Amino acid sequence: MTVADVRDYSLAGVDSRFATERGLVEAEWFRPPIDPERLRELQVRSNARAARDVLAWFGLIGLFGYLAWAALGTWWAFGAFFVYGALYGGVADSRWHECGHGTAFASKRLNDIVYYIASFMLLRQPTLWRWSHVRHHTDTIIVGRDPEIGFPRPSSLSKVLGVYLPVLILPKAVWRTLQHAVGRIDADARDFIPEDELPKLKWESRVYIAVLAGVAVWCVAVGSIVPALFIGLPTFYGAWLVVFFGILQHAGLREDVLDHRYNTRTVYMNPVFRFLYNNMNYHVEHHIFPTVPYYALPALHQEVKGFLAPADRSTFSAYRRVFATLRCQWRNPGYDEPRPDIPEAEGMGRSFVDTGFVTWAGECHDGLVDLGAAETLAPGSVRRVDHGKDTYALYRLDGDAAENPAGVFVLSDGLCTHGKAHLAEGAVLDCVVECPKHNGCFDLLTGEALRAPAKEPLTLYDVKVHNGRVVSRLTPRS
Ligand code: FES
Repeated sequence: MTVADVRDYSLAGVDSRFATERGLVEAEWFRPPIDPERLRELQVRSNARAARDVLAWFGLIGLFGYLAWAALGTWWAFGAFFVYGALYGGVADSRWHECGHGTAFASKRLNDIVYYIASFMLLRQPTLWRWSHVRHHTDTIIVGRDPEIGFPRPSSLSKVLGVYLPVLILPKAVWRTLQHAVGRIDADARDFIPEDELPKLKWESRVYIAVLAGVAVWCVAVGSIVPALFIGLPTFYGAWLVVFFGILQHAGLREDVLDHRYNTRTVYMNPVFRFLYNNMNYHVEHHIFPTVPYYALPALHQEVKGFLAPADRSTFSAYRRVFATLRCQWRNPGYDEPRPDIPEAEGMGRSFVDTGFVTWAGECHDGLVDLGAAETLAPGSVRRVDHGKDTYALYRLDGDAAENPAGVFVLSDGLCTHGKAHLAEGAVLDCVVECPKHNGCFDLLTGEALRAPAKEPLTLYDVKVHNGRVVSRLTPRS
């Protein structure tokens, strides 16, 4: 191994600069084609489905918590706490993840409630990890940019095994929480969190510390560690399950490549694992289409699998492959897991949805620009329309004009105000458009940014239907 093999994984180091110079930052990524109508079906959210899964999870936590309490003082308690911890400190990860994307429930509020609960169970500050995950999706496994690279190279046996011992890792998270509670925000966090969001870290950290201090006082008061075994410590002794699933996502795969098929893994898993992991075994699909909720990922996989690397046949076979790769990387940090079966991307382009790209029919009389025939845009859908160098998104909302004061058709800027993704490739959910890149949301009646990471409002334009054509002066609505 040479000095050149040692990479700088910090977010303000030399590899961060290299990533920028090489055009790897906030770049366009490969996306396979999919029928836009089918994608729209797959993006539908269900409160009932998500509630069923969350209640089942809470129910299991309650059941095994009760069994652990009932078995206190016996050997059975070890088994009950083992499962309780895995449900609390392990399964919480996939619930945290899906609700963080805002795709589990149709309701933003329900997503947020579960997100905050799961964040506490994992001792992850909600704001810090929301923005960390945004960066992970923007620059997946780009060295110097992605804060969530689990296996920096060079790897080693002790490092890999160390990942399975959260007791070695979580104290760092606790220390970071303490630092943030007193306003000492580290450089990595400052790199991906907007300045105006930083104060939240302080208060979130303080709430966590207050709750954990309360549990500690409770332990002292009753002269027993038992309260902490139920609240707080499960984050440590149950975190092995986070690693058990998480290691299969990206470990050993290629760094610095703008194609999730090379740096992300899809693995077929049994139904129990898929429940515990919220279908995140379809990880390539999730990264490419983050607007698709977890319960639609198996169907999405069927739609696009022909463009992806073949999925690993089982958890066991994926593990064998991951450890074989990591073993090679102990000696040769530049080694990548071979992925010879990925279909050639040549000619597929980078835009994944046939958004119905429109070339202008030209200006009509009275300065109105023709955006195309109204009947060609289905209710609940969106189309990209370009005019010169400008790009717009034209939506046809569900419902009739009486219910929708802005009219059935809405025209907005084509690019998300956060990261310049084409909104025409996102999801239209009632009167909201969700960005395809980081799930930021905008109100299509007002342009207001409803969900981070989108913060700046979206510009809306006048639009109407005239003689069966959608037309606009392209003047911003006041
Ligand atoms: S590009 Fe990040 S929310 Fe749209």
